[in-house]
Amino acid sequence: MDKKVTIAAIENYVYNKLINEGSGHDWWHIDRVRKNALKIGKLEHANLFTVELAALLHDLIDDKLAEEIKISPDDVRSLLKKQFVYDSVIDEVLSIIQKISFRSNISREFLSLEGMVVQDADRLDAIGAIGIARTFAYSGSRGQLIYNPSNKHGKDAIQHFYEKLLKLKDLMNTDTGKMLANKRHEFMELYLEEFYHEWGSNE
Ligand code: ADP
Ligand code: NI
Repeated sequence: MDKKVTIAAIENYVYNKLINEGSGHDWWHIDRVRKNALKIGKLEHANLFTVELAALLHDLIDDKLAEEIKISPDDVRSLLKKQFVYDSVIDEVLSIIQKISFRSNISREFLSLEGMVVQDADRLDAIGAIGIARTFAYSGSRGQLIYNPSNKHGKDAIQHFYEKLLKLKDLMNTDTGKMLANKRHEFMELYLEEFYHEWGSNE
């Protein structure tokens, strides 16, 4: 197995699957997560091959994907087997991508170092300037309002900041992830302050 060839083949597969995805799991989300995962992984001394494979594949089995795009864990296994990836690495990658979703809320002790790194990179992409953009894009794709001040518990994009985005900073696993998250968190607080200011309310 040549690791570079394997990564290029998986990258190509994921690119073709997700290039037209419109709910925030598009190829460029994957590419950003992969790059940040490698950056964090290097500083945290993780196995970078496992990290990169898991980052590239992390959203393909997600329930939020359209049925015609989504694949099963068994499909991921055959994909990696075709590239001659060792079974031990395949098991690890599968375990990571099944655990990292926020919804499944697996506590960090069940994640390997590589899993923590990929989860941190995925969470980083949900906050800061990029996270804000993804939230409005996702919200728009679901027909939600930007903000509805008369209905604080209704589903609007601003509500999602409180439900998820502002909580992520304290859920980061690694020191590098925490450091990168702090800056993005501050930017979101600044953003909300300006948003309410422009809206004209006194919040
Ligand atoms: P991830 O790729 O981190 O697993 P999700 O699948 O939960 O993220 O969601 C994809 C993107 O859409 C994220 O940026 C997330 O914050 C955003 N998002 C998810 N649910 C909502 C929602 N109800 N309203 C607005 N944005 C959302
Ligand atoms: Ni993701």
